[in-house]
Amino acid sequence: EKVIFSGAQPTGSLTLGNYIGAIQNWKALEQDYQCLYSIVDLHSLTIRHDPKVFRESCLSFLAQYLACGLDPERNIIFFQSHVRQHAELNWILSCNTYLGELNRMTQFKEKSEKHKDNINAGLYTYPVLQAADILLYQTNLVPVGEDQRQHIELARDIAIRFNNAYGKTFELPDIYVGKVGARIMSLQEPENKMSKSDSNVNGTIFLLDSNDVIVKKMKRSVTDSENTVVYRDEQPGIKNLITIYSKLAECSVQEVEEKYAGKGYGTFKGDLAEIVVESLKPFKDKYEAYMTDPDYIVGIYRRGAERAAEIAEKTMKGVREKIGLV
Ligand code: TYM
Repeated sequence: EKVIFSGAQPTGSLTLGNYIGAIQNWKALEQDYQCLYSIVDLHSLTIRHDPKVFRESCLSFLAQYLACGLDPERNIIFFQSHVRQHAELNWILSCNTYLGELNRMTQFKEKSEKHKDNINAGLYTYPVLQAADILLYQTNLVPVGEDQRQHIELARDIAIRFNNAYGKTFELPDIYVGKVGARIMSLQEPENKMSKSDSNVNGTIFLLDSNDVIVKKMKRSVTDSENTVVYRDEQPGIKNLITIYSKLAECSVQEVEEKYAGKGYGTFKGDLAEIVVESLKPFKDKYEAYMTDPDYIVGIYRRGAERAAEIAEKTMKGVREKIGLV
């Protein structure tokens, strides 16, 4: 069976960008692959955090994964930090990664612009840990949003280099990005991607936002003065909203355009707000249920870590042997 690995950083809460760009695809692929979906808590340590808030947010993330409908029987759902092999492989791969490669990473550049007072070594080597996440499980496919492309290509390059130096050790991972929705934009600045850490909260819809907040954010979203619901680069705001509509209502972009031909933005935004609220309703109900059942959550992540560690250790045995560790 082919293997999928993907993950999200447990900071704050999941956004509509995470959901459409990644998790909708995770769900679509879970039938045909052995999937590992991790909460990459170690990656989140690259940003300063409050331990108590962070811990809560990690547990909440697990409940959010489950509330999105990911099946914990079929998939392996776990915390990255619970499987020690991630950190071990991270070190070994970092000795097989060049500074030049890391210097080219655009996310590092963006993040160090944003966190000028905390440009730590972890932020820099972040993509190596990500490569370890992927290669540890002999992953074939990595479903992510467009912003992760460079990191997945690096993981692949590191795997090729390692295999050439020591003999075939890792599967080469391919990226999987959706044709539509791989880059959901901010509702306030449609030239930037929607992000958990945007200082303007009106630009980002969080899956846990109340219905009122969702409606307000949608209605206030920045569009243009054309007042025509068409999907084109010249109208980035409306293009983004059409994308969201088409992904949540599961219809094509053309169908959305046809449906709203001759209708203005007001009608369209009102309908879209309703669609977002409706599609998140089951998520919210399930989230509440999971959050009130902490024992269930503990059971899921313990079992997930066990299953993941078993696969990870198999890979690590091979790696240690190949590089000559006694
Ligand atoms: P993170 O936590 O930023 O995002 C989780 C997933 O959501 C996607 N995504 C988006 N897709 C479309 N539009 C957006 N506006 C948007 N924002 C986020 C991301 O592309 C991602 O798929 N480095 C990763 C986490 C990670 C990982 C891995 C991913 C660590 N190890 C191994 C895959 C494989 C990250 O920070 O994602």
